[in-house]
Amino acid sequence: DKGGHRHFMAKEIAEQPIVIGDALTHYLTSDATDIVLPEIDFANMSRMTMVACGTAYYACVTAKYWFEQLAKLPCEIDIASEFRYREPPMPAGSAALFVSQSGETADTLAALRYCKGKADTILSVVNVPESSIARESDVALPILAGAEIGVASTKAFTCQLTVLLLLALRAGHQRGHISDADLATHLADLRGLPGVLNHALSQTNGFEDVCAELAEAKDILFLGRGLMYPLALEGALKLKEISYIHAEAYASGELKHGPIALIDQTVPVVVLAPRDSLFDKTVSNMQEVMARNGRVLLISDKKGIHEAKDGTWRTLTMPDVAPVLTPILYALPAQLLAYHTAIAKGTDVDQPRNLAKSVTVE
Ligand code: M6R
Repeated sequence: DKGGHRHFMAKEIAEQPIVIGDALTHYLTSDATDIVLPEIDFANMSRMTMVACGTAYYACVTAKYWFEQLAKLPCEIDIASEFRYREPPMPAGSAALFVSQSGETADTLAALRYCKGKADTILSVVNVPESSIARESDVALPILAGAEIGVASTKAFTCQLTVLLLLALRAGHQRGHISDADLATHLADLRGLPGVLNHALSQTNGFEDVCAELAEAKDILFLGRGLMYPLALEGALKLKEISYIHAEAYASGELKHGPIALIDQTVPVVVLAPRDSLFDKTVSNMQEVMARNGRVLLISDKKGIHEAKDGTWRTLTMPDVAPVLTPILYALPAQLLAYHTAIAKGTDVDQPRNLAKSVTVE
């Protein structure tokens, strides 16, 4: 049942404020002043290793920034198909965390089995609680996204991010890097997130026009820095999957180390840049693109657009949100760009060619 939407993907994008609200209800006390999680010994943890595939891996890339910044916890991330064959050593005090919507992805499951007996704790973040990955973990945390039908993962990604952020906050608090007062502020911000997402989803008018033009492109680049780097990766993957347009993402700072050679007026460049502490750096990379006649689509908040719109090709404005929550909010434009570009191209949004919802072969 598409619930009145044209595609499951559209329904699942629209559901995000509700399912994230459900996850928050599940993982927060009723007064939203504390996080409810099974006992995990973050205080004595020496390292967290996070492993996944595809979009779930990009959730891990994002979570690395959170665990390092909020909890000062050394963090390693890897794609499952590389991790499992590399024979990575796991020092004492290591925890291994596996992220998978389906809980059945063959490489992720094999990576989990590799860690058994090597990591002190095996954690998983899954959408299907009875899945193999959940069953074989010491602690399986459900993301509560509900069934996700569209092959392109949308609501599972933002629910994964929500649960991973709660874990990072708990870790930061337990390890003494987040005070009670700061935790309360973070949780209050999180409580407000479904409202912010609803607001963003009610203002998506600009997307169709922009995407009608993006649909003409052969190659599209995505740039982001810090927490927006994994979002750039996710935006490029989503676009490739359902519109079949070649898209690549780079950390903004890597641009001048090679990819800038690709820039001309035929290659649109999507820049994800909320007005945060890294904004000026990203804007200077964006200006390097514009100086080479690159067509920049800047996605930022009101302040960011106001400061940096000169010379851009198009802009899309997002609501304001606490900096730590920007990945969850900016997932929406990443998804909507892919969705509307695929619609403009007339591709099969829910069942893209060559792809399966659950990748149970290696
Ligand atoms: O079920 P999983 O989360 O383990 O799946 C991992 C990837 O196959 C999945 O995220 C894939 O990249 C999606 N099609 C992305 O939209």
